[in-house]
Amino acid sequence: MNDTLTPAAAEALSTVLLRCVECSTSYPGIEAGWKPRYRCDCGGVLDVEIQLPAGATALRQLFDRRTATSVTWPLDAGTALYDHSGVWRYRELILPIPEQLIVSRPEGNTSLYPVGIENCGAGRIGHRQIGHYAGLERLFLKHEGENPTGSFKDRGMTVGVTMASLLGAQAVACASTGNTSASLASYAAQAGMRAIVFLPAGNVAAGKLAQSLAYGAMTIQVDGDFDAAMRLVEQVCSELGIYLLNSLNPYRVEGQKSIGFEILQQLNWQAPDWVVLPAGNLGNTSAIGKAFRQAYQLSLIGHVPRFASIQAAGANPFYRSFRQGFSRREQVEAHTVATAIKIGNPVSYTRARRVIEESNGLVEEVTDEEILAAKTIIDCSGIGCEPASAATLAGIRKLVERGVIQRGELVVGVLTGNLLKDTQTGIPQRGDGVAVAANVEAVRNVLRQ
Ligand code: F0G
Repeated sequence: MNDTLTPAAAEALSTVLLRCVECSTSYPGIEAGWKPRYRCDCGGVLDVEIQLPAGATALRQLFDRRTATSVTWPLDAGTALYDHSGVWRYRELILPIPEQLIVSRPEGNTSLYPVGIENCGAGRIGHRQIGHYAGLERLFLKHEGENPTGSFKDRGMTVGVTMASLLGAQAVACASTGNTSASLASYAAQAGMRAIVFLPAGNVAAGKLAQSLAYGAMTIQVDGDFDAAMRLVEQVCSELGIYLLNSLNPYRVEGQKSIGFEILQQLNWQAPDWVVLPAGNLGNTSAIGKAFRQAYQLSLIGHVPRFASIQAAGANPFYRSFRQGFSRREQVEAHTVATAIKIGNPVSYTRARRVIEESNGLVEEVTDEEILAAKTIIDCSGIGCEPASAATLAGIRKLVERGVIQRGELVVGVLTGNLLKDTQTGIPQRGDGVAVAANVEAVRNVLRQ
């Protein structure tokens, strides 16, 4: 790292603290020599603490005003687009960064689809199938696959790469099951940094791999699983002075909180009863949980929703810990068709455990068959998602069947990645469709089938 930190940035960040989630030791947001810190001396992961502004009504009005302002795309580079970012619009709750230093596409502004039996409006008959499948009257799906690189990772990456740029990092790296790497590669290219991504060889969906390669990242195929790649990248970054951008980087989690704020704003600042999401490395459970905790502390909402984190049955260390009342931290060798969440030793275990415990939430597991069946429902509705995202709907259906989620409760499920990320898993294998000769008779025959 070099000394490019401007006085304005240094001053803004001087109010930021990093607190260990295990032993509560705190560190300055930026340490002397600008050396980045990802872990406490005890080995625990760190959580960002910023001074939250007071005044719920004024904050709501500020965020609503920024959302309502129409965007004029800039002809000169000096014009700010931050109000139009679904992350930086909430910057008072994300990170105090001088606006001109922000690296943003912009990202966020993803759809919240009403898909429940009752709340699915006219013109959405296909979407209602999802509500029937879930067994819920009021269900929304927040589609994070609509972000610039097709997954929720962009929300954390805009903050992570902004920090990297602020610290003068020349190179950034991550281990990834594919989406973090695609996002890192894109944002690093935008900021003019070298990107190095570590992937578990043979376990990354083709669309994600193509993104990393196309955006120009050095793509390293590790002979091992994601957990091995994660251990490796941490060592590499500390020894070679490369800025680490996994969710171990506490600033990324701050950006991902914006999923929670955006859901709230789209629901007119009304908290749902449940938030349901897929769980792998547990960064997202930690981040969205933190968003709702802070929104409650700020009186933006009157209650915190219950969280349900859904794991694939073959990659379920968090579920196993939950079943034992979190008395011990479990690890597994992960196996699932949903490669995005094929993770056996999640980094953000403690942060996510706090979210589940505080919100009276739970962890559920679903089989690969249940994931693929739910994916078919989401795909056939016209919305579509990648396999890991479908764990959300599979989990909701299971929890409704078990009577844990009530039919009339307001539920928001998070879809984390775009259908096009993985064009193999769970896609009907009918070749390229139906071949016909170029005449009406041939088509008529085909349509009769
Ligand atoms: N869904 C998708 C599509 C993902 O890519 C991931 C994680 C998750 C869910 C799980 O989120 O890790 O925060 O619990 N993907 C990471 C990656 C690990 O490298 O892209 P989590």
